[in-house]
Amino acid sequence: MARHPGDVQSARHSVALGAGLGHGHAMARHTPDLTTLPDVLAHAWDALDPAVCATGAKSGPETGAESGPKTSAETGLETRLASFATTAPDGTVALRHLVIRAADRRAAQIDLHTDARSAKVAQIVANPAAALLLWCPDATMQIRANGHAQVLTGDAVRAAWDNMQGAARLNYGTTPAPGTPIRAPGAFDRHAHRDRLAVLRQSVDALDVVILSDPQHRRAVYTGADGWAGRWVAP
Ligand SMILES: Cc1cc2nc3c(=O)[nH]c(=O)nc-3n(C[C@H](O)[C@H](O)[C@H](O)COP(=O)(O)O)c2cc1C
Repeated sequence: MARHPGDVQSARHSVALGAGLGHGHAMARHTPDLTTLPDVLAHAWDALDPAVCATGAKSGPETGAESGPKTSAETGLETRLASFATTAPDGTVALRHLVIRAADRRAAQIDLHTDARSAKVAQIVANPAAALLLWCPDATMQIRANGHAQVLTGDAVRAAWDNMQGAARLNYGTTPAPGTPIRAPGAFDRHAHRDRLAVLRQSVDALDVVILSDPQHRRAVYTGADGWAGRWVAP
């Protein structure tokens, strides 16, 4: 997907026009005509892939962007940020923003990074059902990716750790553990601990893509079970 930093403002503008999304507002100039099922599927995977979406080119190592006030042009967060849903042991839905770290269309899987002691890890161990929700303003596209997550730690995350810059490593070593009550907002320490990095690998078993194209909204659903052929459904 062709993008350059100047696109960010127009993408923001599209969101600002939000209330009537898809009803006559200025559409993304760089979005291809998504009129076929294979084109929509390819565009959705481009949007999920930080190597494509972060800068419009292959991205570098993890920078710890989520911990600092960088612009979306620097971080690519407008497209790399997803809502990640799991189920808590009491049956309630658990939802939070996570940065997508890698996407592999061939393997149909997406990688996220987190602290191994965070609540979401225990939730996945108890119930691996998981889903990602993504809004891509430039393409006025919503992506829902359903599947199952597994938790990778230890030697399995060595490459992810080695590829991560120092500041980002500090996100995986807070003391006390994430979610622990503390006496004041800053009453915690941060040290880099590789054994606290967990890579959450979510399989993509099904994709549901909604595009608020003008004048007609489009929705396509795909499953691995049907070889990703997909079908159109009413939006
Ligand atoms: C913009 C943004 C990006 C975030 N990215 C991550 C991330 O990549 N990994 C992570 O573990 N938490 C990230 N967080 C924090 C999570 O949303 C969440 O608060 C934290 O992981 C604890 O979640 P849990 O208690 O459900 O496990 C991010 C938060 C924001 C606001």
